[in-house]
Amino acid sequence: MSRVAYVNGQFLPLQQATVHIEDRGYQFADGVYEVIAIQDGRLVDEEGHIDRLDRSLRELKMSRPMGRRAHALVMRELVRRNRVRNGVIYLQVTRGVAPRDFRFPPPGTAPSLVMTVRRTDLFPTKVLEQGVRVVSMPDIRWKRRDIKSIALLPQALGKQSAAEAGALEGWMLDDEGFVTEGCSSNAWIVSKDGVLVTRQADHMILNGITRQSLLRIAEEAGMPFEQRPFTLEEAVQAREAFLTSASTYCIPIVQIDDHVIGNGHPGLLASRLRQAYASYAAGQRPDIQS
Ligand code: PDD
Repeated sequence: MSRVAYVNGQFLPLQQATVHIEDRGYQFADGVYEVIAIQDGRLVDEEGHIDRLDRSLRELKMSRPMGRRAHALVMRELVRRNRVRNGVIYLQVTRGVAPRDFRFPPPGTAPSLVMTVRRTDLFPTKVLEQGVRVVSMPDIRWKRRDIKSIALLPQALGKQSAAEAGALEGWMLDDEGFVTEGCSSNAWIVSKDGVLVTRQADHMILNGITRQSLLRIAEEAGMPFEQRPFTLEEAVQAREAFLTSASTYCIPIVQIDDHVIGNGHPGLLASRLRQAYASYAAGQRPDIQS
């Protein structure tokens, strides 16, 4: 079945879905985006993602392309037209189309909204059974990483070099050697003492929606956790490491650079958190057995 995209008010076959060459997203990366998982036809953590979209728009002084209710309906219609039960919806808002000028276009310039839906494997058995590798790299991004901007060149370069090194993800390091986050995911470890650790959400990282939900789940289950920076040295000596994002949920990491993590197999806590998140995504109570 051919894919259908949504472009500024129209549902179009993907091949015919195009934007103007003077769209500010194309010329200045002047836009923001969200990725939301679809599990069994449901949008996972929808409210959190749309709240963050609104925040990103506010921070960049951009307006919403449509009201929240209408947007929710259009997303559902797009999922329905694509007949996707498990996958992701990608949505992007830019400051609209205007002659190329660094300054903002006149008030009233319509923001552009583009959305696509893609089928993905939310439960990749081999990856979950074996875990993945990550490689470290300097974080060369701007200083407002809390905004989910479409300016993703540093992450594209990072992911490419990770792939060339046979790794799934790049873990980016700040100037002091602390891990900020993954190129497209948040970074977590389970410390030597068994405490869940992920960096605090400030301007240095994107405050992942999956991250926030997992912290809530961990708290409700009485799991000890800390939100603080951790170094690469601490990570390679950790009991477990894992990453989280809307499109992957929670993926165990078994190797960072040349260092094997724990016993080289996916960690117990990461697997439990993943299961708990999948139940939560299915609208069930996330039950973590100890
Ligand atoms: N990436 N950090 C970065 C830099 C990200 O790009 C992402 C998400 C996350 C995790 O956030 P969330 O849990 O809300 O997905 C953290 C998406 C999936 C992407 O770019 O495809």
